[in-house]
Amino acid sequence: MKKILVTGGAGYIGSHTIVELLKAGYEVIAIDNFDNSYPSVLENLKKITGQEIPFAEVDIRDKAALKAFVKATPGIDAVIHFAANKAVGESVANPLKYYENNVGGTVNLLEAMQENGIKQIVFSSSCTVYGEATPPVGEDAPIPVAQSPYGNTKQICEEVLKDQCVATDLKVVALRYFNPVGAHESALIGELPIGVPNNLVPFITQTAIGKREVLTVYGDDYPTPDGTCIRDYIHVVDLALAHVAAINYLAEKKNEEAFSVFNLGTGQGNSVLEVIQTFEKVTGVKLNYKIGPRRAGDVVQVYASCDKAMSGLGWKTERSLEECMSSSWKWEQAIAAKGNN
Ligand code: NAD
Ligand code: WQD
Repeated sequence: MKKILVTGGAGYIGSHTIVELLKAGYEVIAIDNFDNSYPSVLENLKKITGQEIPFAEVDIRDKAALKAFVKATPGIDAVIHFAANKAVGESVANPLKYYENNVGGTVNLLEAMQENGIKQIVFSSSCTVYGEATPPVGEDAPIPVAQSPYGNTKQICEEVLKDQCVATDLKVVALRYFNPVGAHESALIGELPIGVPNNLVPFITQTAIGKREVLTVYGDDYPTPDGTCIRDYIHVVDLALAHVAAINYLAEKKNEEAFSVFNLGTGQGNSVLEVIQTFEKVTGVKLNYKIGPRRAGDVVQVYASCDKAMSGLGWKTERSLEECMSSSWKWEQAIAAKGNN
């Protein structure tokens, strides 16, 4: 039995990962400050897993509180670090919030780990570090100057983690997620965007349920087969299972280097119109959408090469775009039935 500290454990990816860690026999302790999540997630995790989730409300920006919490929690073998802010547009408007939380919070966490002899961490990175790359994108693709402060925080955190590996015996797995979508089959946990969603799939489901009037497709004049942008949409449960694989990888000391990085995607690209058509097909709901202008900063097409994760972590995705759409829809309907929390 290994004990895993999950930061951002009440969030979208963190909550799904807790389910899979517990299923795999790990002991979990979660922290969150509910900046972008609700305490009710913990109740719903209990319904899914049949277990009370050990939890503490800790803000990782509060170095003293974080250190006191880690010190008072003996036996942590590894950390999965999800806690961060993730809205690209907000990061442009308010960069300091992002540098303080995403970079400063990570530094605080690493200090707390070092002081307490915790030597393994799985870090949430993002395909955004690649910018406009030629797909399929491998881990060795160049990392250009970041297009947003958010993207920059992910690049900087990877560098901070690498440097800490050189200076200490820290072992890191950085996971570069492509586009996480979907929800748990129970419809008890899923993505809960606060306010107007930035991302495609929550916007689709909110439009279908009537919370939004119309979905705007951002541009149909891109150099792609149907003119809309292409992304690699990965089911959040597949993503959660990759974190269990990453923890196993560290526990079994399979890492050849102190800092390892893996792409997490399906290896397949889908256009915005394909996503909409798949949603309509699996749900039978006709979506109200219109073609609008391009969104500033969008890359034309990006999808992962997942060979390294397949061979290194022994992991691959098992869930289809259809399952992504049907579970997202079931989740949106569940939210509508219950209210947000
Ligand atoms: P999320 O917002 O649902 O989850 C993050 C959680 O961290 C939230 O519950 C939030 O309340 C918490 N948190 C934020 N700041 C905190 C702080 N200072 N102290 C304690 N808790 C704090 O986001 P998510 O989609 O689950 O993303 C998890 C991680 O994955 C993030 O690091 C994000 O940047 C990264 N990521 C997400 C995506 C995506 O599209 N969802 C893609 C690539 C990478
Ligand atoms: C997907 C496609 C849009 C909304 C973002 C972050 C990235 C990563 C994942 C964290 C694009 C189109 C969207 C809408 C649309 N997050 N779209 N109408 O931009 O690939 O990536 O989330 O690390 O850093 O930038 O995801 O879901 O916003 O967009 O047409 O209302 O859907 O133009 O082609 P994106 P997205």
